[in-house]
Amino acid sequence: MKKMKAQIRVFESLLPLIEKLSDHLFHSGEELAQTFGISRMAIHKKMVQLDQFGINVESKKKVGYRIKYPIQRLEKAKITPYLTYAQQQKMQIFPIIDSTNQALLAKLGTIEKGQVYIAEQQIKGRGRQGRTWFSPFGCNLYYSIYWRFEQGFQALSGLSLAIGCVIAQLLTDLTDQSIKVKWPNDLYLNDKKMGGILIELSGKMGDCADVVIGIGLNLNMPKAFDYPIDQPYDSLSYQDRNHLVGQLTTRLHQALAKFEQEGFAAFYPMWQNFDLFLNQPIQFVAQDRLLSGIERGVNQQGALLIEDQTGFIKPYLSGEIQLKKLIVI
Ligand code: BTN
Repeated sequence: MKKMKAQIRVFESLLPLIEKLSDHLFHSGEELAQTFGISRMAIHKKMVQLDQFGINVESKKKVGYRIKYPIQRLEKAKITPYLTYAQQQKMQIFPIIDSTNQALLAKLGTIEKGQVYIAEQQIKGRGRQGRTWFSPFGCNLYYSIYWRFEQGFQALSGLSLAIGCVIAQLLTDLTDQSIKVKWPNDLYLNDKKMGGILIELSGKMGDCADVVIGIGLNLNMPKAFDYPIDQPYDSLSYQDRNHLVGQLTTRLHQALAKFEQEGFAAFYPMWQNFDLFLNQPIQFVAQDRLLSGIERGVNQQGALLIEDQTGFIKPYLSGEIQLKKLIVI
């Protein structure tokens, strides 16, 4: 914890330099030294620190330094025009954080429904099933929203599917690319994962449910070959993250209010448009057993429907089911 806080402090001291280098132009060591009133050696040291935080700096002899990819910073002033006054008050942007989900969970009891945390970079981004979500600086979206469901846990079935559909619809509207959802909550582009949803819950059975919905989207993942990502992935090439945050927040508010009233049934027709494996042969793992069959969509509760070799269709609600496209050779 102490180490993390120290890391965050170091990172914050680098922010003015990052700001300066965000234009994707080369800046000479001399210019930077003058701007920040420090020696060229100190500038060089800061470049090394940037690299340690995963921000790849390119240095050219006799020319200078630049960050390898252009960065358009998240800016509240560019997001607020899309939001209501209440939504504006509940949005916080962090240059760096351990995990936006973790940070919201730590604030439960002190935050209001609709609180949003977004970050430029996560040091401990969390994925599903204990995995890490790789979260480099300034290029993707790391977004979490808190919602309280008065009806409790039983009202949450199909929530991740509904959120997946809302995001897929939004990204399709914004980019004209075909985004699909892999049950229960992965976002796919060109048959590769480009985003994921992590829903974390707090509360007692029979009580209301406190829900943190975390969304990670690869928007402009810089090209590199050594990312610690354990599966093929894709990235959207979408620049205007501020616009996206504004639109996403508006649509999530509408969708979550609707979900509270009508549950997954209200999103069921949408699912048909975005289901990655609809009517395709698949393999899946349920309670440690590997099964295969044809994916036949979902039912009104969001359970996955699998047709076996005899034509029998069975619903699977369990979050442990993993889908793998059957490779025919
Ligand atoms: C998955 O494994 O597919 C889910 C990934 C969810 C990542 C997002 S990024 C914002 C939020 N904060 C986290 O630590 N994780 C989620």
